[in-house]
Amino acid sequence: MFQINERIQWVGKIDWELRKFHGDEYSTHRGSSYNSYLIQDEKVALIDTVWRPFSKEYVEELKKTIDLNRIDYVIANHGEIDHSGALPELMKAIPNVPIYCTKNAVKSLKGQYHEDWNFVTVKTGDTLDLGKGQLVFIEAPLLHWPDSMFTYYTKDAILFSNDAFGQHFASEKMYNDLVDQAELYQEATKYYANILTPFSSLVTRKIHEVLGLKVPVEMICPSHGIMWRDNPTQIVEKYLEWAGQYQENQITVLYDTMWDATRRMAEEIAAGIKAVDATVEIKLFNVATSDKNDVITEVFKSKMIVAGSSTINKGILSGLAADLEIIKGLQFKNKKAAAFGSYGWSGESPKQIQKELKEAGFEVWDETLGVLWNPDEEARETCRKFGRQLAEWSKTS
Ligand code: FEO
Repeated sequence: MFQINERIQWVGKIDWELRKFHGDEYSTHRGSSYNSYLIQDEKVALIDTVWRPFSKEYVEELKKTIDLNRIDYVIANHGEIDHSGALPELMKAIPNVPIYCTKNAVKSLKGQYHEDWNFVTVKTGDTLDLGKGQLVFIEAPLLHWPDSMFTYYTKDAILFSNDAFGQHFASEKMYNDLVDQAELYQEATKYYANILTPFSSLVTRKIHEVLGLKVPVEMICPSHGIMWRDNPTQIVEKYLEWAGQYQENQITVLYDTMWDATRRMAEEIAAGIKAVDATVEIKLFNVATSDKNDVITEVFKSKMIVAGSSTINKGILSGLAADLEIIKGLQFKNKKAAAFGSYGWSGESPKQIQKELKEAGFEVWDETLGVLWNPDEEARETCRKFGRQLAEWSKTS
C-alpha cells in the first residue's frame, strides 16, 4: 500500500520480474506495475485490480488496508486481465458490490470470467457521488480496447486513465518527478509506439474532448508504471505530439543478414546517408538479434526507414518478415522507406520488402537495391550512392 493523500491509497502490485507481456508480444525490460487505487471518501470506491497471478496476494494485502465490506463500489476502467484479473478473487468476498464499467466491459468481463456480477454500465458524463467528491466517467473506446474508460475524481482533480499515459516501468519511487527522466520517457514512448500508434487519431480526439471539459488535473494516475504529479499534463502534451504523425530527425536501417553481405550493404547505405546529412541520427539494427519492441520504438521515431534482407527461398528472412508484419499492423503515418538486400541466385527480397512497406502505408522510394554475392568496392559505392539519394529524398516533404 502507498498513501497518495489522506483519502487515496495505491493498492496495486509492482511486478519487478515481468520481462514479457501480452504473451511474447511486448518486452518489459524494466518490469511493470498493475496500479489499483482505493478512494476512501464518505463512500469507498476501488479502481481496477491487478493481473491474475497476483490476485490472492492482492486481496490479502487489500484486507490489511480496509475491511472489504466497506467497499461500496468497484470501478473497472478496462476488462483486460492485467487489471481485472483479481476480480474473481475479490468478488468472492464482496459478491454484491456493484462494478461500474462500460457496456463493452460487461462483455469483456463476462467473456473472460463467466460471472454475472452486479454490473452497472456507465457512459461519458455519468457520475457517482462519493461524498466530498464525485467520480466522473469518460468512455475512451479503443484507447486501447473498445471497453476502455477513464475515471476522474473531482475532489482531488485526479484522472485515473487506465492504460493511457502508462508505462511498463517498475519503480518504488511511484511519481514522475522522482524517477530517471530518460528511463521514464523511454518506457512511455515504447508504450505509445507499440500499443497506441494505430489509434492515434482517436488519441487526439479524446484528449481534445477531455481538455474541452476545462477541469483541473492535479494528477494523472495510469494503470501501469509511475503516477504523473509534477506537471501532469506534460504527458498529455507528449501524447498529442506522438499522435500527430510523429517523427524525429532520425533514419533507421533495419536488416536481416545470412552471411553478412546485407549487413555490409546496410553500413554502406548508412555511410552514404551520413555523407549528405551530418545532422540526421542514423541507427542500425540487425532485427534477428534485436528486441522487436525496441526496434518498433525506433521506427516510430524515424522519418525514414531503410529495410533489407538477404533472399531465402525467394522471400525475406524471418526476422525482418516478422517485424514488417508488426509494422503493417501499427499503421505508421508520415514516414518514408526504401528496400535493399543481397542475394546469391534469384534475389526477390528487396521487391517483396518494398511491397510490404507500401502496404504498411510508407511513402516508398521507387528503386530497390540488390547486390549479388558479397559487395565488392563497386557494389559498396552503389550502396553509398543509394544512401546519398535517400538522404536527399528524406529532406523533401
Ligand atoms: Fe490493456 Fe494494461 O491492459
